[in-house]
Parts: sequence; structure tokens; C-alpha cells
Amino acid sequence: MLAIRRQLVSSQSKGILTRSRYISRYNSSVATGNVGSTVNTFKTAVETAEKLVQPPSSKIFNDPFSIVSHEMSNLAKSIASLIGSGHPTLNRVSSYYFEAEGKNVRPLIVLLLSKALSNIPLDQRNRIKIDTYDVTDQPHYQGTPTATSVAGKSVDDSISPLAILHGINPRVILDPLSKPMDKLPSFDAVNGILPKQRRLAEIVEMIHTASLLHDDVIDLSDSRRGRPSGNIAFTNKMAVLAGDFLLGRASVAIARLRNPEVIELLSTTIANLVEGEFMQLKNTVMKNEDTNIIDNDGESKSIPTPTGKVPTEQHEYSITPPQQVDHITNVDAAFEYYLHKTYLKTASLMSKSSRAAAVLSGSQDDIIEKCYEFGRNLGLCFQIVDDLLDYTSSDATFGKPSQADLKLGLATAPILFAWKEDPTLGELIGRKFNQPGDVEIARNAVQKYKGLEKTKEMAEQYCYKALDNLRVLPESDARSALEFLTNSILTRTK
Ligand code: FPP
Ligand code: MG
Repeated sequence: MLAIRRQLVSSQSKGILTRSRYISRYNSSVATGNVGSTVNTFKTAVETAEKLVQPPSSKIFNDPFSIVSHEMSNLAKSIASLIGSGHPTLNRVSSYYFEAEGKNVRPLIVLLLSKALSNIPLDQRNRIKIDTYDVTDQPHYQGTPTATSVAGKSVDDSISPLAILHGINPRVILDPLSKPMDKLPSFDAVNGILPKQRRLAEIVEMIHTASLLHDDVIDLSDSRRGRPSGNIAFTNKMAVLAGDFLLGRASVAIARLRNPEVIELLSTTIANLVEGEFMQLKNTVMKNEDTNIIDNDGESKSIPTPTGKVPTEQHEYSITPPQQVDHITNVDAAFEYYLHKTYLKTASLMSKSSRAAAVLSGSQDDIIEKCYEFGRNLGLCFQIVDDLLDYTSSDATFGKPSQADLKLGLATAPILFAWKEDPTLGELIGRKFNQPGDVEIARNAVQKYKGLEKTKEMAEQYCYKALDNLRVLPESDARSALEFLTNSILTRTK
């Protein structure tokens, strides 16, 4: 959080991305023709810019994060209360990534969005009944039609009897390390953020952290957040198990939100993260009849053929039928694949948790939809900037090894833009840059064909769309803080 705050202050002092600069940026990039294929037409650009300069939606304020500083400063502590186990070493591994200062961007989005949603008048937030337990001591919600939901209890209370949850040994109930959940700390009564939304912010960070523990094993990483990564500090096995444990505890907390729609959304994010990572792992989609895969070391490995006993249908939300993706000749299909992978890997958690925050607020469908779109556009922007920084950052600034993607065989936006100009790059991408000199050729091509500039422009488009989505929310400091956060994602350096 401090890192984002520093970034914001620096963006503000440099005057980065003020509304007037949006216009001049749009105009100059269009005038010079220095735009990627995804860039809007001049008319759309001007319309978007005009929307952004219409009566300022944000008040001037000094510190956008002060709005949710109470919740953010308690985040790690609250998460710690959700992940205690009876095993001291498991506790050390599963709390390891929470000890170092991360960006915490996902919980920040959920909290700021929840706060911004609380400014919608209560009589317009009647899509679901706000849980009686949630609002007992909040003047903000006095007079709200309320109801008790599943089991009539709070996010801190179990749905099944504790003796069942704790397993066959009832003694462990008395052991504080084995206590599965702790109570939320006392709540700011005038804040407007519901306890369920606050728990949502914690759940989102737990899911994200679980995915990082697994990701570092998959990527053979050696550092994260300026420290040895979990796989190095402990072992691959422990890092994987700790990630699984975090997911288990996150699932319990999800169930206790007692909202089936939110349970569905958040469970889907976990599946999406795996699907996205799988798409990245393969980088080319497997056909059902394929008998070999290439692993990270470029080795070919034969895999079991499906017996047909368990049908393996492709899910209906897969936008690109695998048979149509040809990474050697079809750059457009590769771009589509990249964006879909990026959605699953990064934007799904941001968009579905933004949507969940809106669902929990009781807001109407149009608001829920825009919150989802906001998270989606922001998430795509976030990951595209991440892919850009992989080319431009030093390890020290990034807090993790930079320039790793090409070495891992990953084709992200910069090299895909270069491939649009130089068709011979398809061959290198197809073989995951595994021949001597491939990485160097790819880097030079990115520079020659302005792959980084075009990638930045692509990220900007998603940033502008995210800003536009926010306009559905009433003007408030929380909305302004979200606008600043969105801008800072574009200008971040780590
Ligand atoms: C970081 O990507 C990784 C992710 C955003 C998601 C990883 C997902 C999995 C490993 C699937 C398993 C999911 C769960 C929920 C256990 P990156 O490698 O591009 O970023 P980095 O440079 O920070 O490592
Ligand atoms: Mg990684």
C-alpha cells in the first residue's frame, strides 16, 4: 500500500494523467499515427476525452488512501486471524508473503469500491436485503429493510457446528492455533463499508497470495517482494501446500459471506486463475488428440491419451476454439489468446471481486455490471503494464526477477506487436525462444517495431475504459481515489 501511495504522490506531483493531458495525449498520438491497432479512432478518442473533462467528478483531496486506511492497515492482521493452523511450520509458510509489503491492490480496489458504492442512496440498493447482523451498529444503514440470511449469523460465525469443522478430535477446539476463524475487529460505524465487503477484501488477497505461492513454484522463481520466494525459503512442496491451505481457508470465509451469487463468483476466480496459468504454461492450446507437450525446459513429454470414459468438453466461455489457434502464422489468434489468458490470470479476480462488492452492497444490475467492467478493464491494464515492466524494469525496482518472460518462453504484448510487423518471429514464438540467440532477436525486434510503446498505448486504452466505467458511481472521495488508483496502475514502476 505504501508503494502505491508513493507512486500516487509522485504521479500527482508530476501532473501525470490529469484530464487536460488525456486530451493532448490522445490528440498527439493520433496525429503522429503512432498508435497500435487497438487504438480507437480519432472520434472515439475525442469523445472519451470529453467525457473525462466534463464537470470534474472528483474533489481535490490530499490522500485518497486515508479513506480506507483503517481497513488497509488491519488487512494483514485480519488475514492472520483467518489462516492460523495447528501446525507451526504451516503457519510460517502460509503467512510468509503477507509479512512483506505487497501492492495490496486487489483489496484496495474492493474497499474503495465498497466505500464508493455506499454513497448510492439506500432506497436504490434493494437488490438484496442487507444482512441484519451487518448493520446493527451502523447509523449509515439505519432504516434499511434488512433480513437475516443463511443460518442468520455473521461472517465470523460458522454455518456447520464447530465440532464438525474441527474434525474428529474435539480437543482441538480449545487450541487457539486450530481455531479456524477469528472475529472481525471492531468496525467503524460511520464508514459504510459492510463487514462482508471487508471480509471480501481479505479473501481476495488470500486467493491472490495462494496463486503467487504456486506461481513461484511453476516459474522457478527465486525472489518475491524483495525476499527469497516461498519455494526457495521453504520448499516447493511446502509452498504448494501452503497455497492450498490458503485456498481452503479462503473457501471457508467465502461460504460465510452467505451469498450464493458471491460464492459462485469467487469460486470461479479460483478456477479462472488455474485456467489462465494453464494457458500460459502451454502458450499454445492443446488439441484433444495431442499426445505430446513441451515443458518449460523445451523437452517434449508424452502424455496419456484420454480414454473417453470421462468426456473433456471445452467450456462454453472459451472464446477461442483451440483448433483455430496457430501460433506460427496467426498473430490475431495469438493476440486473442493472450488477452483471454490475461483476463483469466489477472482480470478475473479483480473484475469478479469488484462485482461481488457491488452485489453485497445491494446495488442494482446496471451498477453491478459497470463495477464488473471496471475491474475487468483495470485488471487487463494492470497485467499488460506488468508484461511491459518485465521488459523495462531492473530486478531491484521490480522486487522480483525482471526480463523473465522471454526466457520462460512467454509471448506477451510487446513481442506480439513486433510479430505483427515481422512474420518470421512466429517461428521463434512457436518454439518458445528455446534456440540460442532467440531471446536476443526477440528483444531487438521489440525495440525496432516499438513493441513497448504500442503495449503502453494498449494499457492506456483499458485505463481510460476503467475510468469511464467509474462514472456510474456517485461522485465521492472514494470514487476519486479509485480514479487515482486506476491512473497509478498505468504509471507504476513496480
Ligand atoms: C503471477 O503471474 C501469477 C498469477 C497472476 C496467477 C497464478 C495462478 C496460478 C499459479 C494457478 C493456481 C491458482 C491458485 C488460486 C492456487 P506472473 O508470473 O506473470 O507474475 P510474477 O512476475 O509476479 O510472478
Ligand atoms: Mg511468476
